[in-house]
Amino acid sequence: MRVLGIETSCDETGIAIYDTDHGLLSDCLYSQVKLHADYGGVVPELASRDHVRKIVPLIKQALQQAHLNATDINGIAFTQGPGLVGALLVGASVAKSLAFAWNIPVVGVHHMEGHLLAPMLEDNKPDYPFVALLVSGGHSMLVDVKGLGHYHVLGESIDDAAGEAFDKTAKLLGLDYPGGPLLAKLAVEGEGGHYKFPRPMTDRPGLDFSFSGLKTHAANTIRSANKDRQTQANIAFAFQQAVVDTLAIKCKRALKQTGRKRLVIAGGVSANKYLREQLGNLMHQMGGQVFYPSVQYCTDNGAMIAYAGA
Ligand code: KG4
Ligand code: ZN
Repeated sequence: MRVLGIETSCDETGIAIYDTDHGLLSDCLYSQVKLHADYGGVVPELASRDHVRKIVPLIKQALQQAHLNATDINGIAFTQGPGLVGALLVGASVAKSLAFAWNIPVVGVHHMEGHLLAPMLEDNKPDYPFVALLVSGGHSMLVDVKGLGHYHVLGESIDDAAGEAFDKTAKLLGLDYPGGPLLAKLAVEGEGGHYKFPRPMTDRPGLDFSFSGLKTHAANTIRSANKDRQTQANIAFAFQQAVVDTLAIKCKRALKQTGRKRLVIAGGVSANKYLREQLGNLMHQMGGQVFYPSVQYCTDNGAMIAYAGA
């Protein structure tokens, strides 16, 4: 079965074709980053309009790349939410219209289920069951995954998502949008021991997260600190360490609570090298394994939606 996947939840138009026998046949992505950069964040109306411009050409490109015609597609999957409502509407309208015209089934996919299943696009994929840490720009959650479609949310962020905290702190450091990857790059030049950020909600039981306090702590630290590059890098380092430490503490707790031996990390922040390293160390200590998508499938893409739909 060949499924056309359509992702338009935020600032990326992602179109891919997944074949249940042969894997990914094509994968096209258009990022709107440049469009929103001048505003320091995503402008929803501009995002919707740009999806309208890009979606049909990208679908044609995906078919061409896979050497397929429309009649070779057996189903369509689109991101149903969560996301920007106007942007989602573009994907949903095109998906449903094409499915009607081509007389094939169409299915809405939860954006976070797409992220959760992204590691399944890799050669080295996890067996079920596992614990998934989903860390994106809009959501942070820990999920106990018993099998495909069997999810139990163990905890989630009660305020800012991990990616959001990265982006907001990056902005305070004067970095461009989207700041997460730029902050991570700056942190490489930083050294530890100069600043200490809190590890929110780790001193009490439970698996929920809170990141808005870290952002406030960052704002206060940055306001009273020198503006030279080394100081800024030291702050980036301490901030990243606090987020990653907090995530690692909660992952360890979730694995102990569920007895799972496999940890999956997915979503935009799972591209973060320091997070991958630290969770790799944790799983090594615990005698388990960690899995994550390759970098292009950490952030939003059509391939994860096509896979989840299939
Ligand atoms: O999953 P995603 O593409 O979009 C949402 O569903 O939100 O995640 C985007 C988020 C942004 O906040 C971005 O700054 C963050 O992922 N991100 C990173 C890194 N790469 C992307 N955060 C920290 N380190 C990175 N290397
Ligand atoms: Zn996402």
